[in-house]
Amino acid sequence: MKIFRHSKHAVYFAVGLGFVLLLLTKSYASTGILRDLAQQSGITIGASVLMEPFENDAVYQETLAQEFNSLTPENAMKFSHLHPEKETYDFTNADKLVAFAKEHQMQVHGHVLVWHRNLPDWLTDEDWYPNTLEKILKWHIITVVEHYHGQVDSWDVVNEAIDENGDLRDSIWLDGLGSSYIEESFHWAHRADPNAKLFYNDYRGAGLGDKANAIYALVQDLVQRGVPIDGVGIQMHRSIQDPPNPERVAANISRLNELGLSVRITEMDIQIYGDEPPDDEKLQAQAQVYQDIMEICLAAVDCTGITTWGVSDQHSWIPYTFDRPDAPLLLDENYQPKPAYHALTETLAQ
Ligand code: G3I
Repeated sequence: MKIFRHSKHAVYFAVGLGFVLLLLTKSYASTGILRDLAQQSGITIGASVLMEPFENDAVYQETLAQEFNSLTPENAMKFSHLHPEKETYDFTNADKLVAFAKEHQMQVHGHVLVWHRNLPDWLTDEDWYPNTLEKILKWHIITVVEHYHGQVDSWDVVNEAIDENGDLRDSIWLDGLGSSYIEESFHWAHRADPNAKLFYNDYRGAGLGDKANAIYALVQDLVQRGVPIDGVGIQMHRSIQDPPNPERVAANISRLNELGLSVRITEMDIQIYGDEPPDDEKLQAQAQVYQDIMEICLAAVDCTGITTWGVSDQHSWIPYTFDRPDAPLLLDENYQPKPAYHALTETLAQ
């Protein structure tokens, strides 16, 4: 049976069908404009990635590759995940993320080599002699960084080593090794991959407050003593009720740049303490915070980009950690662009 009287009708049908299919796909996946614009502006727009949706949700992967040009494993490179037993490393999950990034021409930011949380029981259950603990940390860092030599562009070498008062945080590392564990960690990571960019990363250090000043003093000292540190990751877990002050963030980035350090805006999510569905006024306020931070990053001498802490609101750590609804990211639960997404694309387009 002949369905089309002319072959050109078959062509029209095929084109029409293709268009409808494209529209259907686009109503689930997002547009890809954000990644393109970030690329053109020479910055990274990143997202942290969770293994569960990465492995089970095709739209999650598709959105990740379309919208972002950088990824940070949210948990898969933490100590307990990579090094679950004293003599055992397990790179399975982290390798999948690194391979995905390579396939989609995305940068990889490694998170995290030294942290006081997410440590395996074999490590925390024992009292170690300092020289044994030092060997454990040293070989953990060297093994992980060497495994990803040339594949991970940058690392959070030390994360959250300063507490709320601006003092060095009590941790297994500080207690066992003293404050020198910080600089030693940078040396070990540098030795394992001299081309990887090495960062100190922390939260509530965005403006010019006590904690930001303590971070500044720490990294200034490292720079002055020739420790191989390339930059500072400024985490941005904030809310519309308690937004960062744009002038103070800009001034803080500027003084870090003057030390010769790059800055990355890491772990950005802006909580709205939302109702479901989120109220439009709150989403607009959230968009303003994202826009302010993007403008600051673009205007800075050396701000390499922004990483959001999650791909979409569906998998943000906020609702499951605090057991309440929220919508802190750029894409909503259905991966649709929110006002914050549009604020970033408009800012980048200008
Ligand atoms: O795997 C289970 C899953 O089966 C269960 O359904 C789910 C809900 O309770 O929990 C899952 O494990 C959780 C895991 O995240 C994966 O979602 C862990 O309990 C939870 O402790 C873990 O939390 C992570 C947290 O760091 C601690 O490592 C968050 O995802 C992650 O977003 C958070 O990230 C940190 C950065 O590394 C450092 N800066 C602060 C930031 C937020 O706390």
